[in-house]
Amino acid sequence: MVSLNINGKNHELDISEDMPILWVVRDILGLTGTKFGCGVAQCGACMVHLDGDAVRSCITKAKRAVGKKIVTIEGLSQNNNHPVQKAWQDIDVPQCGYCHSGQIMAAVVLLKENPSPTDEDIDLAMAGNLCRCGTYPRIRKAIKIAADIQKKEMLNPVNRKR
Ligand code: FES
Ligand code: FES
Repeated sequence: MVSLNINGKNHELDISEDMPILWVVRDILGLTGTKFGCGVAQCGACMVHLDGDAVRSCITKAKRAVGKKIVTIEGLSQNNNHPVQKAWQDIDVPQCGYCHSGQIMAAVVLLKENPSPTDEDIDLAMAGNLCRCGTYPRIRKAIKIAADIQKKEMLNPVNRKR
């Protein structure tokens, strides 16, 4: 048995501890928001958070997450209302949408570490998240909008713990 905390819930799973987290969330738990792209750490479609860091779940084994907290796109916010999700909705960033769970999870970590990123910061931080549809200009714009939303929300004491 492997014990994993995913989106705030503890799971006792009868799986190999070497199973990649991507398989755990999609195939075992049915959380299909996280996508399989390349399977070899090259595209970022499978990105989830592990104790707040962005990791590629296609190559991250379940055993690495024992005692830690996994968050998938489904657990990022209660009502799809994380500042990054709001910004993505504001300007309709996705085209086919396949890469965007990963893009959003990467952008959340970027804004946590750098609340006012420049274009260069964004391009550097997001370089590992590929988009076949070429939505990069909208991703960059949405991250700037999300940064503004995040700053406004942080001025509201109710949101400061986020
Ligand atoms: S599916 Fe994991 S990086 Fe592409
Ligand atoms: S929106 Fe289609 S791959 Fe990014």
